[in-house]
Formats: sequence, structure tokens, C-alpha cells
Amino acid sequence: MVETTARAESRPRLLTGDRPTGPLHLGHLVGSLETRVALQHDHECFIIVADLHTLTTRPRAEEVAELPGYVRDIVLDQLAVGIDPERATFYLQSAVPAVYDLAILLQMLVPKLRLEQIGSLRSMARAAALPDDAMTMGLLAYPVLQAADILMARASVVPVGLDNEEHIAIARECASVFNELYGDLFPLPQARISRWSSLPGIERGIAGSGAKMSKSLGNAVFLGDSAEVVAAKLRTLEFGDAERASPHEPALLVFARVFMGEDEARELGAGLRAGTLSLAAAHDALIAAIEQRLQPIRERRSALAGEIGLVEEIIVDGTIRAREVANVTLARAREAIGLEPLWSGLVTATQARAKARKRPY
Ligand code: TRP
Repeated sequence: MVETTARAESRPRLLTGDRPTGPLHLGHLVGSLETRVALQHDHECFIIVADLHTLTTRPRAEEVAELPGYVRDIVLDQLAVGIDPERATFYLQSAVPAVYDLAILLQMLVPKLRLEQIGSLRSMARAAALPDDAMTMGLLAYPVLQAADILMARASVVPVGLDNEEHIAIARECASVFNELYGDLFPLPQARISRWSSLPGIERGIAGSGAKMSKSLGNAVFLGDSAEVVAAKLRTLEFGDAERASPHEPALLVFARVFMGEDEARELGAGLRAGTLSLAAAHDALIAAIEQRLQPIRERRSALAGEIGLVEEIIVDGTIRAREVANVTLARAREAIGLEPLWSGLVTATQARAKARKRPY
């Protein structure tokens, strides 16, 4: 036990994760999951399941009722990809109360105007069909809650997509203002932006418009999809017209670059343009390359899913550990600000009075 702690503390802390809004897809695989798998060896990893963040745009009872399935799905997906629960701490955000407390304390440090200028929040509001005048405090403070996630673990490395870059800047600002006001407590977290932070979706038409792969657009290839479903989805990718009609690189070529390699993708594009390669043959090559990646993931996924209660136990274990870490950080933050001394001053005076009157409080 002692040995594990000593080893863990010598590695930089990393925190990342997702909102449980559906199972993970190929965009997540190349955009973030593979980075997580690689970084787990020399980082102490915390993987958040950010269900409180989901409430910012999906607060309704029927949406909350979907959380248990989605929470299980995204942890299952990450285990299947190869994140080792012995190395990484998976935890459920809403079950770590210290995070709510820390978020309130950090809110004092962020100008409202700063949050109003963040484009990603407006996009999220738009995606959730929320008009400007219906923007909630919760959504506006989304990045502050995210800062609390990161700072509660005192993490220094935060792998995210480009859409989260500004949120990590907010976390850094929170850390630096806090340290300035109350003394050094938080390392300044750095975003690590993934190389493929937006894989396009597979749907015809939409793919040509360069839309990002996303569950809500219905253009995703899920890690849990069967081989047949994956193939059928990939066969909808077009080439000629898509290339002429859109300023964006056709999704077929982006997929080829990501899953087959730059040279192979160039050859495939040249063959299609010259007519020496049929679209069906290009699909076959791409499907084979993607299947090579997906097949072992799918097998592990179904084996893990068959072990009743395993995923749940991994989340419970991790959440208990995350609570311990968060409680320590919150106590230190309260001490630094002077809130803990404020309370303990009251308690001490109360105890002194009880002693003087020779009757316990
Ligand atoms: N905002 C992330 C998303 O887009 C989820 C998230 C919440 C997160 N807290 C985090 C990511 C802390 C990295 C670090 O889904």
C-alpha cells in the first residue's frame, strides 16, 4: 500500500474524461482514447464520468434516467480500449461532493464576462436548442465546474479536444488566481490537444460538409457496433461528388489517413480519381483497416460486459478513491482561504465555554 502510494506520487497527475451522453465512437478512439491508453503508463490517471456536466444541457427526468446506461457504456468502452483500472481511477463526478464545494469557491475567482465570451458554451447551448435568454448559471459555469474537477485532483496534464481548450485555460486562471490570493496550492494545468480532435462523421452529405462525428448527429461508428454495422456505415462514404461539392477533405480520405496512413490514403485518393480503384474496393480497404483496430476492442468489450457488476465495481472503487483525494484538496483550499480557521475558531470558543461552565457542549 505504502509502496503504491510512493510510486503513484512520483508520476504527474492526469485528469480527463467525458460526459455520459452515449457510447463512445471512432472519433473518441483516435481523438482521445488512444492517448489515454498511451499516457496511463507514466501518469497517475483520473478518468471522470462527468454526469454533472451532462445536467447542464440535459436536466430533465427522462434524460437523467438514461445516465446509468451511458455511464456504464463509456467506462466499458474505455476498459475495452485498454485503459487499465489498476492504473487509472474511473469515477462518477456527481458522487464526489467536495467537487461541488470547490466549484463554488472557484466561482469567486472567475469574471462573469470571461465566461460569456467562451464560444464552446454558446455552441453547447445552440446544440441543446437553448435560446440565449435561457442560458443557465450551470451552463455558464460549466468551465468552472471543469476547473474544480481538474484542480481537485491537482492534475497538471489534461488531454482534451480542441473544443475544450478554453475550458482548460479557465482552470489555469483559477489555479493561478487562487495561488496568488491564498498561497501556492494548485499546479497550473496544461491542455494536451489531440491530433485528430475532430474525425468527420460517416453520413453522406453531412460527411461532405465536414461535420464532426457525433452521436447527436447520428453519423457515428460506435466501438460497440458489430462488424456488419461498421461495414454498412463505412460503405455509405462517397468520394467523387463529395470531393467536388465540398471545400472539406472527403470523409473517406480523412478516414484513410487516420486508419491506413498518409501514404496509403494518398494512393487511395489518386486511384479513385484516376478510376483505377473502384469505390467498393476503397471501402473494402478502409473497412479492413478499421476492423483490425475494432475487432479486439469489440471482443474485450463483450467479455467485460458479460461479467456482472464488474464495471460498476470499478466505478465505485475509483469514486471512493477520488473522494479521498478531493476531500484532502478541499480541506487544503478551505485552510488556505481561511474558512477552516473561521469554523475552528467558533468551535474552539464553544468548547472553551463548555469547559468553563463544566458541562459538555
Ligand atoms: N468537458 C468535457 C467534455 O467535453 C468533460 C469533462 C468534464 C472534462 N470535466 C473534465 C474533461 C475535466 C477533462 C477534464 O465532455
